[in-house]
Amino acid sequence: MTSPALGPEWWRSAVIYQIYPRSFADSSGDGVGDLPGVTSRLDALTTLGVDAVWLSPFFTSPQKDAGYDVSDYCDVDPLFGTLADFDELLQQAHARGIRVIVDLVPNHSSDQHVWFQEALAAAPGSRERARYMFRDGRGDHGELPPNNWESVFGGPAWTRTIDPDGTPGQWYLHLFDASQPDFDWSNPEVHEEFRRILRFWLDRGVDGFRVDVAHGLVKAEGLPDYVPPIDSGSMGGDQTDVPYWGQEGVHEVYRDWRRVLAEYPGDRALCAEAWMPTVEATALWVRPDEMHQAFNFAYLETQWHADELRAVIDASLAAYAAVGAPSTWVLSNHDVVRHATRLALTAENPQGHGIGPDSPGQPIPELGLRRARAATALMLALPGSAYLYQGEELGLPEVIDMPPGARQDPTWFRTNGERYGRDGCRVPIPWEAAAPAYGFSPTGASWLPQPPEWASLARDVQVGDPRSTLSLYRRLLAERRAHALGTGALEWLDLPGRGILAFRNGDVIVVANLGAAPADLPEGRVIAASEPLDGATLPTDTTVWLTAA
Ligand code: NOJ
Repeated sequence: MTSPALGPEWWRSAVIYQIYPRSFADSSGDGVGDLPGVTSRLDALTTLGVDAVWLSPFFTSPQKDAGYDVSDYCDVDPLFGTLADFDELLQQAHARGIRVIVDLVPNHSSDQHVWFQEALAAAPGSRERARYMFRDGRGDHGELPPNNWESVFGGPAWTRTIDPDGTPGQWYLHLFDASQPDFDWSNPEVHEEFRRILRFWLDRGVDGFRVDVAHGLVKAEGLPDYVPPIDSGSMGGDQTDVPYWGQEGVHEVYRDWRRVLAEYPGDRALCAEAWMPTVEATALWVRPDEMHQAFNFAYLETQWHADELRAVIDASLAAYAAVGAPSTWVLSNHDVVRHATRLALTAENPQGHGIGPDSPGQPIPELGLRRARAATALMLALPGSAYLYQGEELGLPEVIDMPPGARQDPTWFRTNGERYGRDGCRVPIPWEAAAPAYGFSPTGASWLPQPPEWASLARDVQVGDPRSTLSLYRRLLAERRAHALGTGALEWLDLPGRGILAFRNGDVIVVANLGAAPADLPEGRVIAASEPLDGATLPTDTTVWLTAA
């Protein structure tokens, strides 16, 4: 059964909930979430009111980068269950009208992938090596890496191999961890293999793919030297002319994939994870013959500031409309500081660097949550598709004070603790305040420690509380659906006051107060508000939705 909720081109306006399977629900009790755990909690997502889920990788993997190091693209890692568990999840989700997107990781595999193991065993220049980026080193004895590229996770982007006879050999490229060798996308065999992988999952009935590092597959001819600016975002979203991001050749890959999706009935979608410097640059990934959606990271990275938000919203709507695609909107995911913390930081915090107890610009938690609620209420009123990240509906903050020994992100290790990395947004989510691991795992095990204060944020505590963040999300999603905001159009309204963002979408007026002083509330019937309202004023850091009285 395919899911009926939004009908054709559902991805244009869908609310898509990101499940990070490791941290969602653990049925086996080993402290790592799994697919049966997801299935067992699907009803919570029906009640929340989302249209689709995106599952971060659950494929066979040594888990060096939490599953973004795939050793078998067509099987489920035993940590997460079996293919039968996946089929059951898919069927149960579809039965509830929830579509399912899976994560495809085409830039690199795990070093344990059979192709890479074959490449290591084969000679330079062989067919096996041609599937990855092997190069001779520079220097008299090849002792220097082929160029100066740095890994996104810190340290060099090249690792030297040891030949079967024990002598140092060629180098291979890994834009991420050394356990994640980059494929060579100039090789037709790589293209063929990924068509096979796409069809494998499409045959099982998935509704689409989130494409990892969709801006990175093709590298500039000759692999010219490049050093990213200090303190830039790890995935390159703030850099231009990078020889490994956004090369023209990547687009041909997605045109090909679009044709593969078109072989299947119904509407399936491709969503690009492409960290490009502008929305205009990102919109290249969603031209009519390429992908359907691209994450709007420019929006995610915009400060809590009315003029800046208005500018990025305008730029997004224009840039995506120009290519006939919807804009997407996103505030949190498994790679960024959760927005309930990020929006109250007072110092620069480049993407991927994370935050720890001694980081500058520590947030005031109450302010962060208040802004996060207002920011979500703003986002969910915008036309287009919106992505939510598990736990944000509970108002979860970033875990800042994580014991150093518990950290697992390769970024933390590859920078010798200089960057905290992304563990703080990946902590298993709380379901029941009084249960072991807050209901995440029956044994109380949790692969990252959960802070004691999360008991008060558990889902069962929030369910019956009309003022909770969970109740707010449910309300926003219900009203968004009732008023068809996702397929609507935005018209700005100029209301008096500094720091006010106001617009009309269909019959709903949205007003957000990002200023320093309370503002006048326009007339109308309040259908949702991110904070309790008192009379005719709109408090600071608050968003309200109104209709005609
Ligand atoms: C982007 C993913 O979102 C991130 O978690 C991962 O580490 C890198 N790509 C490498 O696959």
